[in-house]
Amino acid sequence: MAIERTLSIIKPDAVEKHRIGAIIALIEGAGLEVKAARMIHLSRPVAEGFYAVHKERGFFGELVQFMTRGPVVVMALEGENAVAKYRELMGATDPAKAVDGTIRKAHGANIGENAVHGSDAAETAKNEIAYFFPGHEVP
Ligand code: CMP
Repeated sequence: MAIERTLSIIKPDAVEKHRIGAIIALIEGAGLEVKAARMIHLSRPVAEGFYAVHKERGFFGELVQFMTRGPVVVMALEGENAVAKYRELMGATDPAKAVDGTIRKAHGANIGENAVHGSDAAETAKNEIAYFFPGHEVP
């Protein structure tokens, strides 16, 4: 199986609830390595750019408002099959549908405030990591 990278964001709801440590413990416990990390308060243009693929969706305004309401922790994760492994660890987008042991089950509130983001494919991960980390930070 291939060593991959994926982008993780600990969202404002989880940062507000002081869940950064608990979430990183789950990530490391799953065998994923934190290769880079930044805590940042996303501006509106940065959040809109990151979620541009969703701009026609009815929830886009709500999503951008939520993602800019407080700081987030952005991380590049690395490991075997990292994209799928992290998506499995996150659980379903809607925490109500997430299974026990997942990050969203333990720390998410609802489909909007769902604690974490993870890239959906290896190619997306490459673009999402480059969006937040210059090449020299994640060589
Ligand atoms: P994320 O993995 O960050 O990618 C897009 C986000 O849009 C998703 O997680 C959800 O948090 C959010 N989202 C998806 N559907 C809805 C919805 N119906 N209402 C509000 N937010 C949503």
